[in-house]
Amino acid sequence: MPTVVAGPGGQAVADDVVGVAPAGRLRGELRLPGDKSISHRALMLALLASGESRIQGAGDGADVRSTAGLVAALGAAVDVDRSPATGAGGLSIGGSETVTYLVTSPGIDDLREPVAALDCGNSGTTLRLFAGILAGQPMRAVLDGDASLRRRPVARIIEPLRSMGAALEAREHDSLPPLTVVGRTPLTAVDWAVTVPSAQVKSAILLAGLRASGTTRVLEPVATRDHTERMLRTRGVTVRSEAQAGGGRRIEIEGGASVQAVDERVPGDVSAAAFWLVAAAIHPDAELTIRGVGVNPTRRAVIDLLRAMGADIEEHRSASSADAAGDVGEPIADLVVRSSSLRAIDLGPIDVAAAIDEVPILCLAATQAAGRTTIRGASELRHKESDRLAGIARGLGALGARIELDGDDLTIDGPTLLHGAATDSLGDHRLAMTFAVAGLVASGRTTIDGAASAAVSYPGFFTALEGLRS
Ligand code: S3P
Repeated sequence: MPTVVAGPGGQAVADDVVGVAPAGRLRGELRLPGDKSISHRALMLALLASGESRIQGAGDGADVRSTAGLVAALGAAVDVDRSPATGAGGLSIGGSETVTYLVTSPGIDDLREPVAALDCGNSGTTLRLFAGILAGQPMRAVLDGDASLRRRPVARIIEPLRSMGAALEAREHDSLPPLTVVGRTPLTAVDWAVTVPSAQVKSAILLAGLRASGTTRVLEPVATRDHTERMLRTRGVTVRSEAQAGGGRRIEIEGGASVQAVDERVPGDVSAAAFWLVAAAIHPDAELTIRGVGVNPTRRAVIDLLRAMGADIEEHRSASSADAAGDVGEPIADLVVRSSSLRAIDLGPIDVAAAIDEVPILCLAATQAAGRTTIRGASELRHKESDRLAGIARGLGALGARIELDGDDLTIDGPTLLHGAATDSLGDHRLAMTFAVAGLVASGRTTIDGAASAAVSYPGFFTALEGLRS
């Protein structure tokens, strides 16, 4: 993990502990890291396509780097170019870099059997989606990762992939990584009803479905992010998707299709934008412009939920996103967010699934909103990079928030004046960034233990945060 940078108001007080002081004003223009979910998939699909794929503006967090490592281990040549990001005026914004990958692959029929265990690091998406890819390969591979990843459930992918004909086994009665996959070709197409809303599980089945004879169908109870479907279509694979009564979707993929190599530009990560949207909305003197944000309908819930809370967010669609309004390609917008007067909101399980990675930062917004916010049915948050329900309740509670955790439901009463305190990210990037944003509005100094974890998805986060003070 890189050492976290200290700015004028935020100072590294130990290797992995960062202090954040309150900000008098927030102003600025930001560019974001490339969307993490899209970057993972772009690299994986580049491995499956024979020939050369170019991925511009990819995320450069540790998770995406883990995926690039697996792509190389499975036989593709992976070249990466990092150049400083520049804004409209030629200024570097937030210290972030533009990352371009060039992947040259032998393609889906000629992958190389890995000689060692595949290290997915902290990345659940890497482990689960590669399990789907490897299920359809006639080879043996072991997927492993760090201590956090070894605590995350894998039975949810073992079951469908086994029923398609692959052999999989994992630690603790097939529940936890490392996960061994002995794949085979062709697999058997299945109709699979996913019980937990999970884009990772859906995507693993669809990627295995590419190698099945016949049509594989996935029924999801709640619509989750659809990047895999869109990106497969862009690469010439037939994927049908149909809305179901009650908010779910049925997705079908034809087996045996080949994946074409393409050049792709990755939009800015809306899950990273969420931190700045909330920072500006809860700060009394703020105006931020965030450029090039991916606003895919299955990812943008955080924008719409914040607006429903009263956040002043303007959205300007980019002309280049005009062709992405359907279900191919990815729509992009610039967002302008200003200080806002927020009110409480009620979130149910469908909202939680739609904003699964943004719940921690939405909890911070709720501490500054008038009234009682409730978040119900958030059990999946217990299975992320940390137990996020426990972590957010403890961290925001330490800052003086009135937050109660009852089973898998949260209740937050606001508005509350937050005071600086010591918080612990539990090594979870989204908790580290949430507590850092809280530090911008809390009185006194907030410290974040495990702050370097921000680099899992957003290596330039602390530089950007310090750059917004004015
Ligand atoms: C992701 C899906 C989500 C999300 C994760 C990325 C993806 O996980 O939390 O950060 O890229 O498919 P689940 O689908 O398992 O909830």
